Amino acid sequence: MQLRDQDSEVFRILEAERRRQREGVELIPSENYVSEAVLEAMGTIFTNKYSEGYPGRRYYGGNEHVDEIERLAQTRAKQLFSVPHANVQPYSGSPANLAVYLATCQPGDIIMGQNLPDGGHLTHGWKVSATGTYYRSVPYHVKADGYIDVDEVWRLAREHRPRLIWCGATAYVREFPFEKFAEIAEEISAFFVADIAHIAGLVIAGAHKSPVPYAHVVTTTTHKTLRGPRGAMILVTQRGLDKDDELAERIDRAIFPGLQGGPHDHTTAAIAVALGEAMQPAFKEYGHRVVANSKALAGGLMKRGFKLVTNGTDNHMMLMDLTPGGPGRGVFMQEALDRVGITVNKNTIPGEPSSPFYPSGVRLGTPAATTRGMREQEMERIASWIALVAEEVEASKLPDDSKARSPAIKSFRQAIEQNRRLASLRNEVREFCLKFPVPGTT
Ligand SMILES: Cc1ncc(COP(=O)(O)O)c(C=O)c1O
Repeated sequence: MQLRDQDSEVFRILEAERRRQREGVELIPSENYVSEAVLEAMGTIFTNKYSEGYPGRRYYGGNEHVDEIERLAQTRAKQLFSVPHANVQPYSGSPANLAVYLATCQPGDIIMGQNLPDGGHLTHGWKVSATGTYYRSVPYHVKADGYIDVDEVWRLAREHRPRLIWCGATAYVREFPFEKFAEIAEEISAFFVADIAHIAGLVIAGAHKSPVPYAHVVTTTTHKTLRGPRGAMILVTQRGLDKDDELAERIDRAIFPGLQGGPHDHTTAAIAVALGEAMQPAFKEYGHRVVANSKALAGGLMKRGFKLVTNGTDNHMMLMDLTPGGPGRGVFMQEALDRVGITVNKNTIPGEPSSPFYPSGVRLGTPAATTRGMREQEMERIASWIALVAEEVEASKLPDDSKARSPAIKSFRQAIEQNRRLASLRNEVREFCLKFPVPGTT
């Protein structure tokens, strides 16, 4: 029986989400739209299977087809990234990163990663993450100009001699200096791990430098610029095997049985499909277009007087610094853009004067809009809408008194619900979006 007939409650919610995705502009840089083939693979009977272990070495019978699909995903990953070993089983980016710790460190070891408010990820040692609790985290920062402070990384690495150094981020708009991290790690004999969760698709397309010649291990999610299902991969490079010839086995053992149970075989099938798509010439073009669109959107915003961290971008994302209008304004901007159907996320900026919950910036990116076929002229139009929305938000300030903040945001929400200019912009955005189909939503 079809979902529509069997469970009308779930079907109704799904339809509402389908409408939201079709009728709005998605600018969250970590999101994308998968192809119909990826969606189809995810919705297959591979979800019925248990297959703890690895191809040819399973704890359950009946895995001959699962073995084939997992080997295919591994082969495609190794070929695409030019690495000797790929593990495609991590459930998502966070467990993939945790597995790297298990494979390379002992609890209590010193590790280094980019500070979270400076754009780094939770799993690179932030205090509330398991990685900041079980390991001794020494964070490095970005400079006032928004670029990674490589001198500080050198200084901290020599002083603390970490076992593991991360390079990779969740909100960083410039090219990563992988070669510098390799030199630093080499000098102190640390493991150097590149987390390319955000930029994997750009790396495949040649629109961002590859970390493979420099890092020992590379982790990535599969659902961002790579345009696959929600999942992750851990790649061991030749450099990694040269440092530790058991590194690949250690990584595999860290995923299973160290951290996970049975792999999600339907996801593995969909990862194989996404990797197959990423091997096509059209994907290279896609990666370059994502960056061209990102530069066009950044240019359109700066032309309209917005301040961007580092004054631009090298990749798929940009960070608006809204502090000229007062600290903590990211939340107002996110809410007002949501009202017109433009989805972004509030984000901290380097040297954040407010807090992660009430940050002073907004993070935007172009992977999803580019998948829909939008180009530079559409980015110009989106920049003009963002400027219009900003005018409506201009007078809103975050109260200094923390108790007054939540009520202030509540009344702001009511005000924008009734704002006629925003309501008319919402209709314009909807009409525009319907001209750019989202795969799997028609
Ligand atoms: C750089 C980086 N690493 C890891 C992750 C974690 O991925 P997941 O959300 O799939 O656990 C993210 C997600 O935002 C990320 O940006």
